Amino acid sequence: MSNRIQIFDTTLRDGEQVPGCQLNREEKVEVALQLELLGVDIIEAGFPISSPGDFASVQAICDAVKEPTICALTRAKKEDIDAAVAALKTARKPRIHTGIGSSDVHIKHKFNSTREEIIERGVWAVKYAKSFVEDVEFFAEDAGRADLAFLAQLTREVIKAGATVVNLPDTTGYLLPHVMHERIKYLYENVDNIHQATISMHNHNDLGLATANTIAGIQAGARQVEVTINGIGERAGNTSLEEIAMILNVHKDLGFTTGIKPKYLYPTSTLVSNLMGMHVQPNKAVVGANAFAHSSGIHQDGFLKHAQNYEIMNPEDVGVSSSAILLTSRSGRAALRHRLTLLGFDFEKPELDKIYTRFLLMADERKMIHDEDLKELIG
Ligand code: KIV
Ligand code: ZN
Repeated sequence: MSNRIQIFDTTLRDGEQVPGCQLNREEKVEVALQLELLGVDIIEAGFPISSPGDFASVQAICDAVKEPTICALTRAKKEDIDAAVAALKTARKPRIHTGIGSSDVHIKHKFNSTREEIIERGVWAVKYAKSFVEDVEFFAEDAGRADLAFLAQLTREVIKAGATVVNLPDTTGYLLPHVMHERIKYLYENVDNIHQATISMHNHNDLGLATANTIAGIQAGARQVEVTINGIGERAGNTSLEEIAMILNVHKDLGFTTGIKPKYLYPTSTLVSNLMGMHVQPNKAVVGANAFAHSSGIHQDGFLKHAQNYEIMNPEDVGVSSSAILLTSRSGRAALRHRLTLLGFDFEKPELDKIYTRFLLMADERKMIHDEDLKELIG
């Protein structure tokens, strides 16, 4: 089995569903072109049946983007698939992503159906989509809570019907990483034709486990991951692209590769955040404002002695200009001296000690000390 992980970005579909995050057609094309630059393999451009605007955006993305596969979402319904086929008409590499609920709770309370009928409808949708495009991805919604033997049967049947990718979403962000691993392993051991398709991870973050579950799925055999920039998405969001990309990059020992060019991670994060008006939490891994900022005295001293004491990635590698040393009342003399040196001041120890005492008083009062404050302090 190949160890190249396909990066399927769903920022423009699952991410864009977040209230207040809707983008217009030009903005979606801008994001899609940035995703192409970043090196994603598949862009889920939208859900064409959902609105005329989404339909037109999928069309515009097909015209603008050259390299990645362009994917459109559908339910297991004729009118959805017809709309996706029409929207994807000019895509160089089109993919239809169709599917249906797979857990008993969805089968009963969403579809008022039976397991047998769900398999029938799923197989029908794959075959119908396959009559238009070669590349058909099937999603078994809420696979995380589905009966495992039933999920194996559904997976086998949709692959037999021609699915090239089978997506097993943890739609409600319910699973624990070791359980995800066991479930994917079970499918590899119990679905005889599973190697004819790529297994995909699509995990939501309701318990903060989306990234961990996605890595567990990869380790059990999944070779596609469905992710969003900044982890945006329904409720607590989706698996974040930048986290998966950098986990696989930092942990080369795992032996997996992607096509992501890390230097575009931070610029892409900023673009999506600005266009959607969705702030990135400061402590967000990889792209948060504090991801490469050091504020406590012990950490600052260690970092100034050698960056690797407290950093496992270089900020420049992910497109962040440099690490930051923040001056607060938790900072030590080493950080204060470092900042003063950058400002062109060089104080001997006794003088530095006096400045440091005044600095602590000021920092207790102002919380964060900026260059202007320092100039005032030594003034
Ligand atoms: O979370 C989910 O199950 C989805 C599917 C529509 C793929 O977004
Ligand atoms: Zn989803």
